[in-house]
Amino acid sequence: MATCHILGASGSIGRAIADRLEQRMPLSTHRWVVRRWDSSSCDLLDPDAVRAAFAGRPGGDRYVFCAAKVPSRGDSADAGADNQRMLDHLLHALAGSCAHFVFLSSVDVYGPPLDGAVLDESSPLAPDGPYAESKVWSEKRLRAVDIRFPVTTFRLPGVYGPSDGLRSTAGLLARKILEGDTITLPPQTVLRDFVTAADVAALTESALATGTVGTYVAASGYSLSLRRIVALLERGLELPASVATRTEPSQRDADLRFDTRRLHEAFGDVEMTPMTTGLVRYGEWVRHGMNQ
Ligand SMILES: NC(=O)c1ccc[n+]([C@@H]2O[C@H](COP(=O)([O-])OP(=O)(O)OC[C@H]3O[C@@H](n4cnc5c(N)ncnc54)[C@H](OP(=O)(O)O)[C@@H]3O)[C@@H](O)[C@H]2O)c1
Repeated sequence: MATCHILGASGSIGRAIADRLEQRMPLSTHRWVVRRWDSSSCDLLDPDAVRAAFAGRPGGDRYVFCAAKVPSRGDSADAGADNQRMLDHLLHALAGSCAHFVFLSSVDVYGPPLDGAVLDESSPLAPDGPYAESKVWSEKRLRAVDIRFPVTTFRLPGVYGPSDGLRSTAGLLARKILEGDTITLPPQTVLRDFVTAADVAALTESALATGTVGTYVAASGYSLSLRRIVALLERGLELPASVATRTEPSQRDADLRFDTRRLHEAFGDVEMTPMTTGLVRYGEWVRHGMNQ
């Protein structure tokens, strides 16, 4: 039986993917053992440790790469370089011995979009910080000529779910509502699209099960205004938010809208959760203390 290695399995998305693959195993015709990795079981920044853990593994093994230093913990040049090194060490250790590689990228590869832009897989890349640059670098590295195994890349917008520890954007807003802090919104309507960690897990399972490869914008496809997002969280939390409006616009206020037709064509079996239901459910989880 092949092994499916989840790198970054202690993180909010990696945990959701590992849980789903394990729970679905008895239902699936695809048989693989799930192996969870984090920095304590293998520090991906240590090439010797990575070689010891992964060199010589069977060629039928699958890899889901969720390990990263994420910008919510500080978008430094060092963190960006570390993200590149982590992936590079693993690819060196595998030396091409891999049946399928799933990589979690970010819509940050596009940078702040121009007014009115609807982003898809062919939109120009304009990373504007070390984290986004490390994602562009990693995507390119996984398309290099020496990579002969199948690769699936998901470009994710903000992800929320019960194991995000309120560190997602939705979680930070929910925390403010819970604690009675004022949420300051931009002066104009700003659109956002967030996806659930459970949907990312379902997409990953589908990619592994069907062998679907390529790069996909994995958004819900239905952007909502930040004010509406706050209202959905209020409903789930059963608490009112205190909302103020900023006077000055910022470059970060650009709308985020995504064309997900390519995702739907490739992963029609996965129904992406609209924020209208997902964020209410998220608020309910938080209200019941289920978010860790
Ligand atoms: N969350 C989002 O909204 C979002 C949006 C777009 C893209 N993404 C991408 O999705 C992936 C997962 O994100 P996440 O939110 O789940 O991140 P997270 O919760 O911060 O988890 C990061 C994971 O990476 C592991 N890791 C960090 N440094 C490591 C090292 N030196 N060696 C081995 N493992 C290491 C961590 O292990 P330890 O716990 O042991 O440190 C943890 O398991 C990342 O690639 C991220 O860039 C996330």
